[in-house]
Amino acid sequence: MAILPIVKYPAPVLKRRAEEIKKVTKEIRRLIDNMAETMYDAPGVGLAAPQVGESLRLIVVDPTGEEAKELIALVNPEVIAGEGEIIGEEGCLSVPGVRCDVKRWAKVKVKGYDPFKEKMVEIEAKDLLARIFQHEIDHLNGLIFLDRLGRVKRELYKRRYLKHLKELEKKSNNSK
Ligand code: NI
Repeated sequence: MAILPIVKYPAPVLKRRAEEIKKVTKEIRRLIDNMAETMYDAPGVGLAAPQVGESLRLIVVDPTGEEAKELIALVNPEVIAGEGEIIGEEGCLSVPGVRCDVKRWAKVKVKGYDPFKEKMVEIEAKDLLARIFQHEIDHLNGLIFLDRLGRVKRELYKRRYLKHLKELEKKSNNSK
């Protein structure tokens, strides 16, 4: 297993619709293992394949954030139903240094192929798990959490983030 580099916004791979996975090959299984390891290492509670530079419809999620405690991997996941609305704080491994409140469905039903169980599954989720699913599936459609804000807030947060990113890059160049 390997820890993969996490792609930072505004990389193009984070802005496009990811490709459907036709077959869960050995390479896809290896990618799933590596994505899980990368998520736990970060640490994070969810990771979508575009965040490691792979434009594929694949996510890993663990609301506990603890190694393999409640790991879920889903291939070609979709939100098929949503209910209620809830506001909660989010951040993203691809958008370091930014956290903000995002409105989401309170409960969702998610459908996808479970590569561990080797079958299609439907998962009903609420609370944090529902939020993570919506955030990660957004990544597969080229959206980040800031795209879920109103126009004014979205532009403000994106501007602030890009400035912060430049400073981070300057720092890492100086230390080279
Ligand atoms: Ni994210």
